[in-house]
Amino acid sequence: MEASFLVADHLRMTYQYGKTEVVALEDVSFTIERNKITTITGPSGCGKSTILKMIMGITKPTGGSITVDGRPINRVGLKMAAVFQTSALLPWLTVQKNVEIVLEKLETDEGKRVERALRYLKMVGLDGFEEAYPKELSGGMRQRVSFARALATGPDLLIMDEPFVNLDVFSAEALREELLDLWENPDLPPRTVIMVTHNVDEAVQMSDKIIILGRRPSRVLEEMPITLRRPRNIRSDEFYQSVDSVITAMSR
Ligand SMILES: Nc1ncnc2c1ncn2[C@@H]1O[C@H](COP(=O)(O)OP(=O)(O)O)[C@@H](O)[C@H]1O
Ligand SMILES: [Mg+2]
Repeated sequence: MEASFLVADHLRMTYQYGKTEVVALEDVSFTIERNKITTITGPSGCGKSTILKMIMGITKPTGGSITVDGRPINRVGLKMAAVFQTSALLPWLTVQKNVEIVLEKLETDEGKRVERALRYLKMVGLDGFEEAYPKELSGGMRQRVSFARALATGPDLLIMDEPFVNLDVFSAEALREELLDLWENPDLPPRTVIMVTHNVDEAVQMSDKIIILGRRPSRVLEEMPITLRRPRNIRSDEFYQSVDSVITAMSR
């Protein structure tokens, strides 16, 4: 078996509130495989976003380590892109400029930046909306811009923190399926995805593995591989069985 891409080893996180210490993560270890979609799930406040922030280097764990190919994650120069619950678009820039701006450090040629921005906007179904401003778009379309922006940077690792949670069910379902289609295209980055969600159906639909966290102070209850063939039929018996196993593992 190929060695794991990313290894989180005995992560611990305590936050200080005045004189009281809140243990967010007690002892969290898991692995992330290359070219797979891994989802972290668990109850609200169990530290899911904290773990993503540690991977992104925004938060330093109180204890434990995160390594990539055996080296500390902050030393490997991993290219990461992130999509969050709400699309942090710049309201004074058009859709196209919102994508171009993240490419400025990566691509010095303006023509190539424009070409790349347009290509990725098209990929997420936003051709025709290049000149629109964020406030003119629906929530689902704004989130599409966030995806275009993240994917256009060609990340080694895509991080998503509840990216569909603020969308209506139809927009969420459409965007999930389109994202899976893009991910299944072997020519497109990123192949390695880490997602957080508390929606179990979504986790089963998208993931190769689900890391289930317990209540704060949290530990990993189970790392559950999901081997259902893709594209997954979210109305099949085997799909419901997987959802059921995740819910059972969560309530242990
Ligand atoms: N910057 C912070 N300062 C203090 N406490 C925090 C901070 N970030 C998160 N926490 C606390 O850590 C716990 C886990 O938070 P979080 O990672 O956001 O959980 P989740 O994403 O699973 O809902 C919560 O109890 C939260 O209040
Ligand atoms: Mg969170």
